[in-house]
Amino acid sequence: MYKKSGGGHSIPVPFARPFIGKEEEDAVLRVLRSGWLTTASEALSFEDEFAACLNQTAGRPVKAAAVNSATSGLHLALEACGLRAGDVALVPSYTFASSAETALYLGAEVAFIDCAPDSFLLDIEQFEKTARRLSEGKTAYESGGPSGRARVVIPVHFGGLCCDMTAVNEIARRYGIRVIEDAAHAFPAYNKNGEPAGTLGDAGVFSFYATKTLTTAEGGMVVSADQELIKRVSLMRCHGIDRAVWNRYTSGGASWYYEVTEVGYKYNLPDILAAIGRVQLKRAGDLLAKRKFIASCYDTAFSDKDFCAIPPGSAGDSRHLYPLRLNPSLIRRVSRDECIVKLKELGIGVSVHFIPLHTMPYYKNRYKLKKGDFPQAEDAYNRVISLPVWPGMTQEQIDRVIESVFKLV
Ligand SMILES: Cc1ncc(COP(=O)(O)O)c(C=O)c1O
Repeated sequence: MYKKSGGGHSIPVPFARPFIGKEEEDAVLRVLRSGWLTTASEALSFEDEFAACLNQTAGRPVKAAAVNSATSGLHLALEACGLRAGDVALVPSYTFASSAETALYLGAEVAFIDCAPDSFLLDIEQFEKTARRLSEGKTAYESGGPSGRARVVIPVHFGGLCCDMTAVNEIARRYGIRVIEDAAHAFPAYNKNGEPAGTLGDAGVFSFYATKTLTTAEGGMVVSADQELIKRVSLMRCHGIDRAVWNRYTSGGASWYYEVTEVGYKYNLPDILAAIGRVQLKRAGDLLAKRKFIASCYDTAFSDKDFCAIPPGSAGDSRHLYPLRLNPSLIRRVSRDECIVKLKELGIGVSVHFIPLHTMPYYKNRYKLKKGDFPQAEDAYNRVISLPVWPGMTQEQIDRVIESVFKLV
């Protein structure tokens, strides 16, 4: 139950702050002193522990491959699905740049999909319609857009809310589309059956960026039940160097010998970062409980208020973000942008997730898109402010956020 508290208001409440303790500091020191800083046993242990954590409730056991960001993880997962020129990736407009740009890295095109009404998640009907149009040799939208073979869809578990993966998978199967979950916000998040986001499609990609629910400063993880896919990701994340070949030529101990079998990338996660991740993984349950508590305080304060709508939420939500939608009645008096300025003046850091990709100059020009093409994403963008939900927040700070939002009204 949310309770008001007193207290001074001088120090600003930041939008995000990582939860780093002595254990993380000790882990970094351990690696620094080991004499080996980059990818080795810490990264391998992190992969195993991360997969084991998901496998506690996953419908099918997954394996994990650590990478240096979710962006590189998405790139590698799409590459492993064979995405290439002539293909189209179906991507929500309401997401971060990485979800779309990684398809373009591989020479494919992107067809955007709107959010479902009053949701931040992929509009399933529009996904089906776009997949059908492409399968019939048409352009992605009636008004134009790319054409080609629909090879992948990238559902984004926005803010830690799990997409309806049963529906996504069913449609994807019907049209021969691979499913790469953008689970950057979703560690840990679950569907209605308690299965973890990221384990529900062909592959899932998590982010460990500094503001994420589990952080290694920069980092990411690709998970999949498909062993071949993980093998390909592991090969391509390190210059296409085949370690199996390396092992064949050596009999124990380190060796100078390697073979480059593909044109790969440099996307490995260093041990110094993996060591932080291993500690954060142990904290994940506590950190989730703290974010849930903060979100429940906001829910109690803001539900049934005529000036806003609280985020949909669900039992399995990771609560990475708390995107409060301001209602038009408020925005007519104080614009969303003014609200952000005023909250800053009151010492509250907030953010906006996301600026829809179809409104970005690059995509607007590339696909001749215009305002109004994806109205639900635009509506969400025009109204939303993300409130702070970092686990170290004190009750006083939570109260200040709430009081400041009421001051706006
Ligand atoms: C939805 C989404 N996908 C992917 C990414 C990329 O994550 P990273 O910074 O680890 O590359 C982000 C980053 O904020 C994101 O919000």
